[in-house]
Amino acid sequence: MVPEIGLGTWKYKGGPEPLRKGIELGATLIDTAEMYKTEHAVGAAIKGRRDKVFLATKVLGSNLRRDAVLRAAEKSLHLLDDDVIDLYQIHWSNRSVPIAETMSAMEELVDRGMVRYIGVSNFSVAEMKDAQQAMTNNPLVSNQVLYNLKQRQIERYLIPYCVDNNITVIAYTPLADGSLSGKSRFRSARGESTLERVAKEVDKTPAQAALNWCLSRPNVIVIPKSNSVDRTVENCQASGWSLSTNQVQSLDAAFPQ
Ligand SMILES: NC(=O)c1ccc[n+]([C@@H]2O[C@H](COP(=O)([O-])OP(=O)(O)OC[C@H]3O[C@@H](n4cnc5c(N)ncnc54)[C@H](OP(=O)(O)O)[C@@H]3O)[C@@H](O)[C@H]2O)c1
Repeated sequence: MVPEIGLGTWKYKGGPEPLRKGIELGATLIDTAEMYKTEHAVGAAIKGRRDKVFLATKVLGSNLRRDAVLRAAEKSLHLLDDDVIDLYQIHWSNRSVPIAETMSAMEELVDRGMVRYIGVSNFSVAEMKDAQQAMTNNPLVSNQVLYNLKQRQIERYLIPYCVDNNITVIAYTPLADGSLSGKSRFRSARGESTLERVAKEVDKTPAQAALNWCLSRPNVIVIPKSNSVDRTVENCQASGWSLSTNQVQSLDAAFPQ
């Protein structure tokens, strides 16, 4: 089981406190990647709290040959100062490496006790099918993809496929890089004004309404990133309540696909 709101760490520079506050508030899924260079900071922030955390990291698309996958996982564990990754994700697919070789290396990591669950990121439906078929003993548990009010491409095929196959959709950039927070100077009139109206109706902030809208979709969880304790608290408080069907529909209409 994972919480519907986790914590992203791309370009994370907030030190331990925002992540620790998030964990305290139940945002116990922390997402990092070898590419982000934040694994060390995540490892430091979760020291003494590891039992509460669901730790997710990723192997680069350029490291998908068997030996490279094994080496990347070892390096991530070293930087995280830990001995197991809860969710190991393939960051991007790579057509120059047979998917069977990569997935078998991912399963080898599970067999060695270094990884608990296997996921992917930025995979299409066809790529998810290939990845799942290439595994013998493990399910594909998640696909981390771009999803927010302004970027809704996954609604057509990817979310339905994930629902049918018990795959969790981990929505990245759920605040459209902060532009859905109501605090941005760059605003597109119709969408943002509807977001502000809906947020006022439920006595929440636009960022909270934007995150909660993502959660109205089946199988979707979100991983907003913030360097600030206050904004982390704000983002965590997007959980534990739901927009009404009418409010979700107003937002759907205000941000057409
Ligand atoms: N798998 C992939 O290929 C991929 C790609 C991109 C991202 N990701 C993951 O998804 C996570 C989240 O995506 P993201 O970092 O691209 O974008 P995001 O979470 O949509 O937005 C982050 C930006 O919004 C600001 N922000 C956060 N909360 C806010 C709030 N309540 N009010 C106002 N501004 C707020 C942050 O600034 P402050 O930090 O100053 O608060 C930051 O500039 C990443 O950190 C990473 O873990 C994965």
